[in-house]
Amino acid sequence: MNILIIGGAGYIGSHVTRELLDNGYNCVVFDNLSSGLRENLFKEASFIHGDIHDYPSLVSAMKLGTMLPDSNSQFDALIHLAASKAAGESMLKPEKYSHNNIAGTINILNAACETGVRNIVFSSSAAVYGEPQYTPIDEKHPVIPENFYGFTKIEIERILGWYDKLKNIRYACLRYFNAAGYDVKGRITGLEQNPANLFPIIMETACGVRKEMSVFGNDYDTPDGTCIRDYIHVNDLASGHSMALDYITKNNKSITVNLGSGNGFSVNQVLEASGKIINKPIPAKITGRRSGDPAKLTASCALAFELLGWKAKHSDLETLIKTSWNAYKNK
Ligand code: UFG
Repeated sequence: MNILIIGGAGYIGSHVTRELLDNGYNCVVFDNLSSGLRENLFKEASFIHGDIHDYPSLVSAMKLGTMLPDSNSQFDALIHLAASKAAGESMLKPEKYSHNNIAGTINILNAACETGVRNIVFSSSAAVYGEPQYTPIDEKHPVIPENFYGFTKIEIERILGWYDKLKNIRYACLRYFNAAGYDVKGRITGLEQNPANLFPIIMETACGVRKEMSVFGNDYDTPDGTCIRDYIHVNDLASGHSMALDYITKNNKSITVNLGSGNGFSVNQVLEASGKIINKPIPAKITGRRSGDPAKLTASCALAFELLGWKAKHSDLETLIKTSWNAYKNK
């Protein structure tokens, strides 16, 4: 199968591309390199330096599918991971998030319709749920996003629902919980620039790039007072994409599923385990709460297992930390 991976040079996109190449797919990566890195490209996958806001370049990229080996038509599917993803920033710059995440995705969908690409795997997020009404969160949980980023994701999910009915597009919306870790085989080395997430911040602090990090609040209603999250290893996310792709193409059916580990770890647990594994103190101070942080988010992954046979294999704390540190320690 021929797959176009939009945003394939990014942190998650590069792991997804690696997984699909390993599974024998022909891959073409389309990325504007605004946050993706050349270092994350693989020689087995062609690369198009293009922007999702440039409609003609999207259309011509999608038409390239016909030139790939084993192809008698266009791309069999596209995976869309090109988005802005900082929840906090989305509350300050909603225009940027409307433009990149909503308008950009509409361009992709319309180009897919124009060129006959019928299968789409979309990077959605647990941010669509907002403040949890219960945990673990399953896909039936109400979707009331607390930040504009989450709103952009649920809007696209809804548009995809209509394109399924009206334009015969089949989609997989993958609601990621907290992506973390690096390739277990060490093949992906590009580090995220200006990260805002816990794992890269711990790693940057351990490397000395940051003098100290902040723990955002220790007065939550959790056993140690710090927030609990469901960290899903990026290799597990990548296999989820490959399995979702197989599912929608074989069953001609759209799906929306959570991708999480089902386990929750607190900020303090992650920090303590990191200090032990890295064998270095990680200077951290307790600061005030960060606005919009729910106390606890964990996923129910029963649906992904039922439909795709997928479950997390690398999302234990030790593997999350060790693979992250492997990527950071050499830089
Ligand atoms: N945290 C700190 N200090 C930091 C950074 C984070 O204490 O310097 C804490 C946060 O307060 C939170 C936890 O670590 O309790 C995880 O925070 P992240 O910023 O890593 O992740 P979030 O849970 O805020 O959000 C992530 C993604 C979202 C996605 C969500 C889904 O960034 O896009 O997971 O669960 F929607």
